[in-house]
Amino acid sequence: MAKHKIAWLPGDGIGIDVLNAAKIILDALGFDAEYVPGDVGWEFWCNEGNPLPDRTIEMMKTTHCCLFGAITSKPSEEAARELAPHLWPQGFVYFSPIVKIRQLFKLHTNMRPCKAFKGNPLNFRDDIDIVVFRENTEGLYSGVELHPVPREVMRFLADYQPKARRFIHESPDDLAISVRVYTRKACRSIVTQAFEYAKKHNRPNVTVVEKPNVLRETGGLLLSEARKTASQFPGIELWETNIDAMCMWLVKNPQIYSVLCAGNMFGDIISDLSAQLVGGLGFASSANIGDDYALFEPTHGSAPKYAGMNKVNPMAAILSAKLMLEYLKEDEKAQVLENAVGRVIAEGKVRTYDMGGGASTTDVAEEVARFCR
Ligand SMILES: NC(=O)c1ccc[n+]([C@@H]2O[C@H](COP(=O)([O-])OP(=O)(O)OC[C@H]3O[C@@H](n4cnc5c(N)ncnc54)[C@H](O)[C@@H]3O)[C@@H](O)[C@H]2O)c1
Repeated sequence: MAKHKIAWLPGDGIGIDVLNAAKIILDALGFDAEYVPGDVGWEFWCNEGNPLPDRTIEMMKTTHCCLFGAITSKPSEEAARELAPHLWPQGFVYFSPIVKIRQLFKLHTNMRPCKAFKGNPLNFRDDIDIVVFRENTEGLYSGVELHPVPREVMRFLADYQPKARRFIHESPDDLAISVRVYTRKACRSIVTQAFEYAKKHNRPNVTVVEKPNVLRETGGLLLSEARKTASQFPGIELWETNIDAMCMWLVKNPQIYSVLCAGNMFGDIISDLSAQLVGGLGFASSANIGDDYALFEPTHGSAPKYAGMNKVNPMAAILSAKLMLEYLKEDEKAQVLENAVGRVIAEGKVRTYDMGGGASTTDVAEEVARFCR
């Protein structure tokens, strides 16, 4: 029996290309695993009315963690049009499989390293080494949304919050509400993980990114938990920065930042910005970690125009496999993989189109695998 059991979800589009590439590396490392393929993505929405079939969820529950490629997602109306006509009467509504997996498996922490590999022509600077911790299941993405907003909800809100009164005369159809929900538990968890990571990896500071001067209640809760947590980690500084200023500072002085920590939406924004500083989507790996399960994925989408062309950069998927190896305590293999990625980038002989080269996805994977061996 293999040592590790991995749910293998390539999804669709370039998700399939980049996971094939990641497999070449894992094999070269001699990673002892059973890979269990699962159905997820657009094809299953169109033909079954469910982009994340129950059989996939059940299969995932039998595995230690999941490596995920990418999926195509579309707005509700477009999704409804592409559903197979015989399924129309059944009232299926499209949902994002990745958001559902995060919520179902309680993958509360999104971790995204943004490290500049020396010699990458896409680096903004060569001395950037940021790790973003983003709360993954709450905040503005918790899915608590209303449109139209029933009158009784507006009346209830106005009773509790005078600032809601100015909206009370709008017609229900002309109002939409998305609720930003923070729990103390999730706030404490995300800042604790950011600080523990900083301690383990000798990082000097953790920057909490919020907007507590405007979003007083939710932002204030995260910040107060950050201050309490920081007091338990002497030697690691807590920096507090507003999201808008953070975007500016990340472009101006990214090299001074080390660990960033934020709620769901601000974390989403700063992790994309940080990723772009070190080469963009082709390099942006991520881990979604819960107490009992984890999912690793490149952060790019399915890039339909490149699907099946064996053309895109597989580094983000390969580096996501590295995060999986670390999660499974295969630290030595993880280090070999990262060193191999570093060498391929530094040598600069085998590069995909986004780095100015003409190599294929598989060429890059084979080159990384060669250094792994
Ligand atoms: N987690 C996910 O699976 C995920 C994330 C984002 C978007 N999506 C979905 O993917 C589909 C396409 O979305 P999009 O076009 O906005 O974003 P995308 O990330 O798929 O691609 C945008 C562009 O970035 C470049 N790119 C992306 N990955 C690359 C790689 N590995 N190497 C080189 N270049 C790369 C390509 O030029 C591509 O056209 C949509 O349906 C969207 O909803 C899925």
